[in-house]
Amino acid sequence: MSLNNKKILITGANGLLGQVLRLFLEKHGFVVIATGLGSDRLCNHNHVYKELDVTSLEQCAYVINKYEPSVIVNAAAMTNVDECEISKTKCLAVNSSSIDNFIPHVINYKIHLIQISTDFVFNGFSGGYVENDACNPLNNYGMSKLSAEKNIKNNLGDELYTIIRTSLIYGPGENNFLAWVRTKLETGDILNIVHDQYRTPTYVNDLALAILRIIELKKYGLYHISSGEKLSIFDIVCNIAICLRLDLSKINKINSRELNQIASRPSDSTLDIDKAIKELGFAPTKLNNALKNIL
Ligand SMILES: NC(=O)c1ccc[n+]([C@@H]2O[C@H](COP(=O)([O-])OP(=O)(O)OC[C@H]3O[C@@H](n4cnc5c(N)ncnc54)[C@H](OP(=O)(O)O)[C@@H]3O)[C@@H](O)[C@H]2O)c1
Repeated sequence: MSLNNKKILITGANGLLGQVLRLFLEKHGFVVIATGLGSDRLCNHNHVYKELDVTSLEQCAYVINKYEPSVIVNAAAMTNVDECEISKTKCLAVNSSSIDNFIPHVINYKIHLIQISTDFVFNGFSGGYVENDACNPLNNYGMSKLSAEKNIKNNLGDELYTIIRTSLIYGPGENNFLAWVRTKLETGDILNIVHDQYRTPTYVNDLALAILRIIELKKYGLYHISSGEKLSIFDIVCNIAICLRLDLSKINKINSRELNQIASRPSDSTLDIDKAIKELGFAPTKLNNALKNIL
């Protein structure tokens, strides 16, 4: 099968990554089958959209048998970390047990499963994590994503899956961190932002490109994909404000204890991306350059 005939099924295709990825892969000549909860939230595209709840065994079987994709990118997830702490059962069902609905089909059709995972599988005590560092999540979200990783590793052959761990995805659109900061600052709200949590933010376009490389180069196993640029959440928010020429005095620097969030967060979950740079030729965009493109 030539590359351009490859059929890619994307789950969670109404989400931040899903929306960008489906347009990106369509532009690169792939046959895209976008799936998500409820109706299609993206206009102006030329690919199929099907409703698919990944927790439904029947719906997964129906869609996979109908389209026989050669690649599945599983971007569906319950991503609100505090909600995952409150609704543990739902979090496990969506983020972890749903993998059982894909595994038999992945084996049967020899599909390349690309699972999107998270820096929150780490406890954040040290930072600069490489792919084979020990995982020890602090919250249900991280536990559910790690459990999905284990399920995939334990049940699929080495040449059937790739797990991508990524961190603080941002990009265009209304449903992400960047839009949240912008709206708050433009309406003059005070923002209380932690300075003691470090992340390696990820430009969604870079992540889409890394996924394309993984598909084209047939790369399997585990990859960390982010900017590799270690920044505190406070620094990230200040950079956004500076880029938008908005009032920095509205951004309060606080520590995690003061924020008192429902779910614990890792203090330094920064990801080392050397493997992706070497093996995928990955060249991530620095936050400030990406912001200039988006804002
Ligand atoms: N965003 C980040 O900073 C970040 C960081 C690290 C890793 N990740 C991982 O990256 C992936 C993509 O994240 P994202 O930022 O694109 O998140 P997102 O914008 O929240 O997208 C996730 C999508 O999954 C959908 N979904 C939820 N439950 C589902 C179900 N049962 N069946 C099918 N779809 C379902 C959501 O639907 P609704 O829109 O209807 O809720 C949403 O559209 C996820 O696996 C996430 O864990 C994200």
